[in-house]
Amino acid sequence: MASRYHEIYQSWQRDPEAFWAGAAQGIDWIKPFDKVLDTEAGVYGQWYAGGLCNTCWNAVDRHVEGGRADQAALIHDSAYTGVIQKFTYAEMKREIVALASVLKNQGVGKGDRVVIYMPMVPEAVFAMLACARLGAIHSVVFGGFASNELATRIDDAKPKLVISAACGLEPGRVLAYKPLLDGAIALSRHKPDHCLILQREQLRCDMKEGYDIDFADAVARERAAGANVDCVPVLATDPLYVLYTSGTTGQPKGVIHDNGGHMVALKWSMENEYGVKPGEVFWSASDIGWAVGHSYIVYGPLLHGCTTVMFEGKPVGTPDASAFWRVISQHGVVALFTAPTTFRAIKGQDPRGELVARFDLSTFRTLFLAGERADPETIKWAEQSLKVPVIDNWWQTETGSPITHNPVGLGLLPVKYGSPGVPMPGYDIRVLDDAGHEVPRGTLGNVVLKLPLPPGCLPSLWNADERFRQAYLAEFPGYYKTADAGIVDEDGYLFIMARTDDIINVAGHRLSTGAMEEVLATHPDVAECAVIGIADELKGQVPLGFVVLYAGVSRDTALIEKEVVGLVREKIGPVSAFKTVITIKRLPKTRSGKILRGTMQKIADKEQWSMPATIDDPAILEEIGKALAARGIGV
Ligand code: COA
Ligand code: AMP
Repeated sequence: MASRYHEIYQSWQRDPEAFWAGAAQGIDWIKPFDKVLDTEAGVYGQWYAGGLCNTCWNAVDRHVEGGRADQAALIHDSAYTGVIQKFTYAEMKREIVALASVLKNQGVGKGDRVVIYMPMVPEAVFAMLACARLGAIHSVVFGGFASNELATRIDDAKPKLVISAACGLEPGRVLAYKPLLDGAIALSRHKPDHCLILQREQLRCDMKEGYDIDFADAVARERAAGANVDCVPVLATDPLYVLYTSGTTGQPKGVIHDNGGHMVALKWSMENEYGVKPGEVFWSASDIGWAVGHSYIVYGPLLHGCTTVMFEGKPVGTPDASAFWRVISQHGVVALFTAPTTFRAIKGQDPRGELVARFDLSTFRTLFLAGERADPETIKWAEQSLKVPVIDNWWQTETGSPITHNPVGLGLLPVKYGSPGVPMPGYDIRVLDDAGHEVPRGTLGNVVLKLPLPPGCLPSLWNADERFRQAYLAEFPGYYKTADAGIVDEDGYLFIMARTDDIINVAGHRLSTGAMEEVLATHPDVAECAVIGIADELKGQVPLGFVVLYAGVSRDTALIEKEVVGLVREKIGPVSAFKTVITIKRLPKTRSGKILRGTMQKIADKEQWSMPATIDDPAILEEIGKALAARGIGV
């Protein structure tokens, strides 16, 4: 089938407001919006101003009323416990209503924040939707973050309540969550009124009398009492959630997504970009703590009336590299969305893809990859093993859905290896040089998006309009800065080459090296430090630290390095994958004192590099090369 992409993209270009008014027909409005785009409101305008809606209604209730009551809404598959739980739309609604009633009894209402710090359990999805039902704003924090990171988010979001669990499961290990939560609340200045704690049989936790509330007991009581909580009408422009993501400092950015635009964008993407029909089974193998999890485990598939799969497990080791094929065949998955690192992990253990043949994957149509650069080798391996199109798409926590894609639902365009596709409606992508001038096609530059951003993108940062302006809008007036560098080719395909800031992408997880440097600098023996991201075969990138010790420090450097590694794990969490730090005598700098992180990264990755003209002392780079070589890096 010839792709309708160009026709659809041009229809958006001709009349963006008419396009988004049409797309808004895909959801139920309690009161229609007054304006498609209110250009006077918010930082750069607001979508669907004056409209009233409820995201939980659109994701759950309307399917119950509309004939999907008995269709599975959520399949939870735990590779650790071997238990598969299925919830129909009607069953899921009952769980959400009971939980919403618990939250309401605790005084949670419209506009209140609720932090959700949970492993991959169905109750985490119910918690997000119960907040949406009440018009409360959820903020999910990924379980791999430690107390300090959680505390920072609690202080910024100021939640009335935290919903958490006793433990999470990782291969061969049970991870206690509750001590991390208690530690965070001890650290935070803001104290939530209560914590709602899901006990798990793998590890029960101590409950603080009068403060912690047992999740299952409280929900069971409301269920037995036949509690009813209606969906609360909220403005389309009211926040649905705040998701913290790495910024260039230790203070994460609270990315807001609103209710109306977010629903419209996700519903549109499910049909047109992912090519999935209501009633089909969609699986996003991410974590609810990330943007991909929010958009494509929870909101996208449910808004579209699909069955969503939530997998508690890893692509390898639970039990082996066939785990994903088992899930696809057992649940009749039509499309899988994951990060390329997943496939590098599987390929590493089953290089010839032999395990695939053991499963019936006849329902499976498309593999979607995002979150980090998809290397052509991995894409080709996946294509050959699975015999389905493998589609790379590029987006950010801030956009909530793809900026570029190959829109399967509109008819596939030719796949170009290494490119995450072409701009989706709503996105006018430009590539600018550092002075803000557009560069010719095929030239590397700063990838920016012409304002206004389309529905579904962040309208601002939580309580930080000025930071939003400074971080994203100030450098290139009239444009949103993605902080990615890339190239648009003659056919309009984008190629993302690198970040222009200090963000690195570790196993599809977005992390800030600046935030790690802040932690390194707190070690009493560390005078100066730098953290860079270096290439890693499995995770794409991993962080590598350098420390310069204070003069006169005579302690064993190996011990100090171990302490520094432990400090990052303690302050940021295991997700940082910070395992290596190297003690050096001095850091390479420019004459104006800027650390030459880029050059150090090139040396570590064995890339071509040239001596920066402004370097203070060229001999230092030689010292760095030797220090790296001593650890087997860059040789
Ligand atoms: N709670 C607590 N700890 C967690 C966690 C969670 N939810 N998720 C990960 N961790 C821990 C891991 O146990 C690991 O700890 P360790 O250093 O003690 O071993 C550490 O954080 C790093 O985890 P991860 O980066 O996931 O590495 P891994 O070696 O456990 O697994 C992959 C590697 C490739 C299998 C894994 O990263 C993966 O499946 N990635 C999928 C990509 C993805 O979900 N991307 C999200 C955006 S699409
Ligand atoms: P996150 O906000 O965690 O989704 O991370 C967003 C960043 O991940 C982007 O700015 C890119 O640097 C990177 N990224 C996401 N998807 C892709 C992709 N398909 N190709 C290359 N980089 C990507």
